[in-house]
Amino acid sequence: HDPKFIRNFSIVAHIDHGKSTLADQLLLQSGAISQREFREQLLDDMDLERERGITIKARAVSLHYTLDGQKYELNLIDTPGHVDFHYEVSRSLAACEGAILLVDASQGVQAQTVANAYLAIAGDLTLVAALNKIDMQAARPDEVKEEVFNTLGLDPDEILAVSGKTGVGVPELFRTLIDRIPAPSGDQKAPLRALIFDSKYNDYQGVVVYVRVVDGTIRVGQKIKLMAMGQEYEVIGLGQFRPREVACDELGVGQVGFVVANIKQLVDVRVGDTITAAHRGAEKALAGYKEPSQVVYCGLFPATHNQFEDLRTALQKLALNDSSFTFEPETSDALGFGFRCGFLGMLHMEIVQQRLERESDLSLVQTAPNVTYEIVTRKGETLYVSNPTRIPEPGEIEEFREPYARVNFLIPADNIGVIMTLCEERRGDYIKTDYITPTRVIVTYELPLAEMIYDLYDKLKSATRGFGTMDYELLGFRPNTLVRLDVLVAGDRVDALSVVVHRDFADRRGRKLVKKLKEEIDRHQFEVAIQAAIGSKVIARETISALRKNVTAKCYGGDITRKRKLLEKQKEGKKRMKQVGNVEISQEAFLSVLEAG
Ligand code: GTP
Repeated sequence: HDPKFIRNFSIVAHIDHGKSTLADQLLLQSGAISQREFREQLLDDMDLERERGITIKARAVSLHYTLDGQKYELNLIDTPGHVDFHYEVSRSLAACEGAILLVDASQGVQAQTVANAYLAIAGDLTLVAALNKIDMQAARPDEVKEEVFNTLGLDPDEILAVSGKTGVGVPELFRTLIDRIPAPSGDQKAPLRALIFDSKYNDYQGVVVYVRVVDGTIRVGQKIKLMAMGQEYEVIGLGQFRPREVACDELGVGQVGFVVANIKQLVDVRVGDTITAAHRGAEKALAGYKEPSQVVYCGLFPATHNQFEDLRTALQKLALNDSSFTFEPETSDALGFGFRCGFLGMLHMEIVQQRLERESDLSLVQTAPNVTYEIVTRKGETLYVSNPTRIPEPGEIEEFREPYARVNFLIPADNIGVIMTLCEERRGDYIKTDYITPTRVIVTYELPLAEMIYDLYDKLKSATRGFGTMDYELLGFRPNTLVRLDVLVAGDRVDALSVVVHRDFADRRGRKLVKKLKEEIDRHQFEVAIQAAIGSKVIARETISALRKNVTAKCYGGDITRKRKLLEKQKEGKKRMKQVGNVEISQEAFLSVLEAG
């Protein structure tokens, strides 16, 4: 394997622009899969709960392609397409010299097209731009080429046109990849250095580590060291995905493949870390390791008590497959024992929760998501707090800082007004508007992350009738006049309902909150006061009047099945009920805290 004949690349694209389909087409045209397998892949896509393509499952696939009589090894490395996963995109790109920038020829340039292209450019990769889906009636290649030129400055004459579905233009794409993407350069004689760009847990082999060899050679039987934490292992298996696993004895400079080394847990492996030889290894690790940063937190509590240990087991199991979410035990007066969990973003949070509920048969109560705050106390300490209940009392805080993000909205020019209103309502600072064509623009704002995490994406989608897309990048902490807003039910502070808000919005938010809670909390046998407070100052109050009759009384004299149904329905609802003092609060009530924002 002469590095001269190796090319390592990724495909970067906005979601649904056809990355998987094109990857499968590359496999087809290089003879790695049959026409029948290709068709089955396409059929899979129809499935709602579809299994992702072979390429996606493999994360990195090696193709052999012959051009002008010369055989090349082409390694295609997968990258996730969603906004939450920037860091994962850049770490996959670090294993490549080039990237195909794929743009749907009817949809045109979208927010993640731009964001991912910038990540590739920042990583010094050679970009090969290609319009996809040119078989479609709605394709508008000339305009989309112009959009690519206006947003990224890429020469329109160098933009290819392909169809992942029919295969049109793909031979030309192979030629361009080989011609334009540089071969890997590395030192064959130097000590081993291999970049870990991904890892996956598997019940049989333990952790499977995906690597790109930069210098030297990795061999089966060799003792290796993971440089970040210094643990040593013996290589028991090496191979490549083509797309099926093909074992090999060694991987040399520029090659991409997997390593199995008896590593038990995903947390022992850090993506971005360097593998070297245990004996006479490299001195210096490759640049690249960065702790993934959790930006959104929420509390997860079992809806029925006694399920704390089950929840812990479920979280541990999930962590085997996803090392980027964190969890630690927390206790809440209202909700009992549970966990505070950290995620890379809102989508990540949703995915983890769905998997938890689906795979473990637990029903969960989730508290309002929040961000991490940086607080400087009067005593001069700096605290990072990702649980609103732990925010110090107002008198102890010198400066209260919150994370900001720079957000790019790529939208039809007609929608500029609504998007600006949306951002102004959320304390956004306007930065600029760039026209990419006369009808499509990129509007840039700087927004507090806390104002984005709940429903900004949904609001954008509805405001632009689905045509708008967004992307964000974290900027760091900025001071603001923030306060912790508490909720008291029947005089008791419900710790799980505390939120952090801007002082100017606190009164309005407090009034809405108690009103909403009044609607959500059922009437009890006694009067229940609901209050919103900052420190000891009550800023809003509602009262739920006492209930006169019990629920089943309504059905008195009615037939017995109706009565039973009602009781069952109540029982169903109760699963997600929590007792606070004498008052019962439902999961919906907890979530309504968000909507009241
Ligand atoms: P994510 O991984 O979710 O970001 O999606 P993706 O970018 O991998 O897109 P995928 O390959 O799943 O394709 C998205 C949709 O576009 C599917 O319904 C495909 O069948 C369709 N599609 C992909 N390529 C083509 C193409 O060249 N022509 C046409 N007509 N449809 C295509």
